[in-house]
Amino acid sequence: MSATLLFRRFLADPMKIAYVVPSSRGMVKRILERMDFERARVFVEFGGGEGCYTRQIARRMAPEAKLLVFELDPHLAEHLRRQFRDDPRILIYQSDAALFRDELHKLGLKHADYVISGIPFSYIEPAAKKVILHSVHDGLSREGMFIVYQVSMELKGHARMFPGCEVEYFLANIPPMFILAFHKSEITLRKKPRRAKKPLKAEAVA
Ligand SMILES: C[S@@+](CC[C@H](N)C(=O)[O-])C[C@H]1O[C@@H](n2cnc3c(N)ncnc32)[C@H](O)[C@@H]1O
Repeated sequence: MSATLLFRRFLADPMKIAYVVPSSRGMVKRILERMDFERARVFVEFGGGEGCYTRQIARRMAPEAKLLVFELDPHLAEHLRRQFRDDPRILIYQSDAALFRDELHKLGLKHADYVISGIPFSYIEPAAKKVILHSVHDGLSREGMFIVYQVSMELKGHARMFPGCEVEYFLANIPPMFILAFHKSEITLRKKPRRAKKPLKAEAVA
């Protein structure tokens, strides 16, 4: 049901939704392996879609943690709201991800520990892209990370405010995707990812 909803919304607005099927279980797992659920208290998701990441983050996050999910599409946002209506830790915003810091501040929160994004950055104008990237950088905690899954690595060229990025090409997804993990600080960049099975390339942002 969820997957067909994403497909129908793709047909209605292909430039916003970008992909026809939700991220694979393997990719969701791979991305979540990068996150420290014991430490983190504030999670933000850009482009929740039908909720494949949201459900798994909700399963792992601490009882006192919060997850703010930004989903522009009204049908998908409503679908997310219905799924998480009984979980007060999860807040769904039918709103542009670019506004996430306003919502954090309204909750009295200064920083997010992780921002994870599936929004199609390639379709966003370079100037708007920079605004979002600066806002994510400023909105992350010192050990925070911005994790992006995309079909291309083009975002890396715009993200010079981050000291570096780990890049992985993940094949077991339709379509295969780059996972880009931008670190707020060089200290966490030098630490090994928690349970990476394949060697990862840590590089300075070009
Ligand atoms: C490729 S889908 C990813 C859905 C889901 N996370 C997954 O991996 O299957 C991208 C989602 O981002 C949403 N989106 C696109 N631009 C957005 C924006 N500026 N702010 C919030 N959501 C956005 C779309 O409506 C769509 O649901």
